Amino acid sequence: METVSILLYVILFLSVLVSYPFLRKQKRGVPVKRFKLPPGSMGWPYIGETLQLYSQDPNIFFLTKQKRYGEIFKSHILGCPCVMLASPEAVRFVLVTHADLFKPTYPKSKEKMIGPSALFFHQGEYHTRLRKLVQSSLAPDTITKLIADIEDIAVSALESWGGSGQVINTFYEMKKFSFDVGILSIFGHLDRGYKEKLEENYRIVDQGYNSFPTNIPGTAYQKALLASKRLNQILGEIIYERKEKGLVEKDLLGHLLNFKDEKGQTVTEDQIADNIIGVLFAAQDTTASVITWILKFLHDDQKLLEAVKTEQKAIYESNNGGKSPLTWAQTRSMPLTYRVLLESLRMASIISFTFREAVVDVEYKGYLIPKGWKVMPLFRNIHHNPEFFSDPHNFDPSRFEQIAPKPNTFMPFGNGVHACPGNKLAKLETLILIHHLVTKFRWEVVGSQSGIQYGPFPVPQQGLPAKFWKESSSPIQDVCP
Ligand code: HEM
Repeated sequence: METVSILLYVILFLSVLVSYPFLRKQKRGVPVKRFKLPPGSMGWPYIGETLQLYSQDPNIFFLTKQKRYGEIFKSHILGCPCVMLASPEAVRFVLVTHADLFKPTYPKSKEKMIGPSALFFHQGEYHTRLRKLVQSSLAPDTITKLIADIEDIAVSALESWGGSGQVINTFYEMKKFSFDVGILSIFGHLDRGYKEKLEENYRIVDQGYNSFPTNIPGTAYQKALLASKRLNQILGEIIYERKEKGLVEKDLLGHLLNFKDEKGQTVTEDQIADNIIGVLFAAQDTTASVITWILKFLHDDQKLLEAVKTEQKAIYESNNGGKSPLTWAQTRSMPLTYRVLLESLRMASIISFTFREAVVDVEYKGYLIPKGWKVMPLFRNIHHNPEFFSDPHNFDPSRFEQIAPKPNTFMPFGNGVHACPGNKLAKLETLILIHHLVTKFRWEVVGSQSGIQYGPFPVPQQGLPAKFWKESSSPIQDVCP
C-alpha cells in the first residue's frame, strides 16, 4: 500500500514538473506556447554542473559549451537552473530591449554585506531614481573637477612604490589607488581620520565578500558583516557632520543628501550608506584589475610601451614639463593610450559575465527561459569571439583604430539600464595614472608566472609582482649583506 502511494506521489510530482512550462503565462499576456528549453546539460541532481565550472578555468567551461550548443544553452550552477547567452543579440535582448522581463539577482549573503538598498540590487522606480543621482555625480562636468586631485593621488602612490625599492603586488596597490579615487568622488576632500576608518573596515568587508556565508562567529563572513555595520556608523557620523555644516557639495554624498522629489521624498540615511558602500565596491577591484592588466600588456610589449611614452611625453612637455595639471581635453586626446585601455578591457573582460533572473516565462528565438531561472550574459565569450574580433587572443590595440566594434560586441561596462555609470571615471583615473607612470617611472615585472587568477575578477598571477623606480634613477638592487 505504502509503495503504491509513493508511486502516486512520484507520478504526480513528475506530471507537475513536465507540465510546469505550459502552465505559465508570459507577462505581456502572450501565453507561452510549447517552447522547448535551450540545449545543454543540467548535470547531476542538486549539484548540476557546479563542479565542472569550478574545477577548471570558467572561460573554458563556457567556451566548450558554446562550441557544442551555440549562442544559448542551459546549465545548473550553485543550485540554480540557468540559461547562458553568448551572442550580442541575446545579450541585448536581456539587458536592453527586454530588460523589464529580467531582474538583477545576487546571493542574499552579498546583499547583506553591501547593504540591500544598493542600486544594483534593484529594478524599476527606486533603481532609476538612485541611478540618476549616482550618474550625475560621475558625469563629465563633475569628474573633470577631480583631475588635479586624481593626479595627486596617482603621483603620491607612484612615488611610494618607486621610492621603496620593494617588490609590490601591483593589483593590491592599484586597489588602494582606485579606493582613494572612489572616496574622492563620493566625499570630495574627506577628513583623514574618517578615510582611514572607512579604509580599515572596508578592507575587512572586501576580505569576507567571497567567503562562505555562515553564522559562526570569527569567520571571515561574520567579520565582514560586523565591519559593514561599523561602516554604516562611520557614514552616519560623516552625514551628520555634513548636515550640521549645511554644505551643498557636488560629490555623490552631496547628490544623495540634497535629493528631494516633487512629493518631498528624500533618500534615507540607510539608502545613502548602502549606495556609498555599493559604489566603492563596484569601483575598486574592477578599475584596479584593468590597470594591472595594462601594466602587464605594456611590459610585455616594449615597442608599444615606447609609443605610449612618446604620446604621453608630448602632453607632459606641452604642460611645461608636467608643471601644469592635465586638462579634460588632454585626457580625451590620448588616442594610442586609449586604444591600449580599450584592448585591455576586451582582453581581460573584467566582468566576464553577469546574472539576471527571469521574472516571467520568456520566449527567446523559440526557446523558453522559465520564470525564476538565472540568465547569464557571457561578455567575455563575445569579446573573445573571432567572428567579432579577429585573432581574439592577441593583444592588438590597433583593432580599435579605424572601425568601431559592431553593436553589442564590446561591453566591458555592460549594457542597458544597469550599464556602468562609473565608466568615464574609471577611464579617466586609468589614463591619469598611466600618464604619470610612463612619463616619470619605469617598472619591471618580477617572476615568470603567467596566467590568470580569479578573485573573482581576473588579474595576472599573484597580482603582478613588480618593482617601480623613478626614470632618472636605476632600479634599486637587493643587496645581500
Ligand atoms: C574598469 C572599471 C570598471 C568596469 C570594467 C566596470 C564594469 C561594470 C559592469 C559590466 C557593470 C554592469 C553589471 C551588470 O549589468 O550586471 C557595472 C555596473 C556598475 N558600476 Fe562599474 N565598472 C568599472 C568601474 C566603476 C567605477 C569606477 C564606478 C563608480 C565610481 C562603478 C560603478 C558602478 C555601479 C554603481 C554599477 C551598477 C549600476 C546599476 O546597477 O545601475 N563602476 N560596472
